[in-house]
Amino acid sequence: MNILILGDIYGRPGRKAVKEKLPQLITQYQIDFTIVNGENASGGNGLTTKNAKELLNQPIDVVTMGNHVWQQKEFLETIEDFPQIIRPLNYPEPCPGKGYGIFECRLKNDEIKKIAVVNLSGQIFMPALDNPFNRISPIMDELKNSADLVLIDFHAEATSEKIAFGYFMDGFATAVYGTHTHVQTADERILPLGTAYITDIGMTGPLDGVIGVDREIILETMLTKRPKRFETATGAVQINGIMLEIDEIENKVIRITRLYETIEENKK
Ligand SMILES: [Fe+2]
Ligand SMILES: [Fe+2]
Repeated sequence: MNILILGDIYGRPGRKAVKEKLPQLITQYQIDFTIVNGENASGGNGLTTKNAKELLNQPIDVVTMGNHVWQQKEFLETIEDFPQIIRPLNYPEPCPGKGYGIFECRLKNDEIKKIAVVNLSGQIFMPALDNPFNRISPIMDELKNSADLVLIDFHAEATSEKIAFGYFMDGFATAVYGTHTHVQTADERILPLGTAYITDIGMTGPLDGVIGVDREIILETMLTKRPKRFETATGAVQINGIMLEIDEIENKVIRITRLYETIEENKK
């Protein structure tokens, strides 16, 4: 079976790219299950209820989030209407929404695979949530007993923390993949005990901005050190992510492949 995971969908350009390209990617790579990170889908800042519905009307099975999860305040009220949307597990309790879920994927031979998807936030240069290493440990038995595959979106800034978490989960998780930096890394591999790993899968959104934001605005803030309202960049768009090829008998990952596509600007 094949799993497709897309990096942080950024603003309208990211949503549009998903709408236009996802069906084609699913056919081309014979994808059985799709996960996207949606923390920047609404203007770069969180996810509105409307955009959550819009994403879930596409062939997307699960949406993971990150540090921007509550930026659209309405989402505190509405996240629980969407069992397919997962926010970082290590927010202090009580907290709306869920940090992991177990989802069913029907394969072409009608076999059902149970896929656990976990979202965790790192702590280095990030909001000080609970320790992600300590937070996942108590649920590992439950995940192992109730799912065939375990996929972990580790939403973090520091490469060291991401790599360390990858090793921490090696042999337990099917895959640990990083999100949040919006820049794809070229270190995808299978770790010694069989877990697929990549430090960051990248972003699905504007190519020519600064991690999604209009580059002129960012340059101005860098030069003046004065705040300015961020706007989503325009122009060409990138689609970043990974694909996981899974051995259906062993429930083990065979291959992790990076996806990096660009869509040129439509010049009028
Ligand atoms: Fe992001
Ligand atoms: Fe983030």
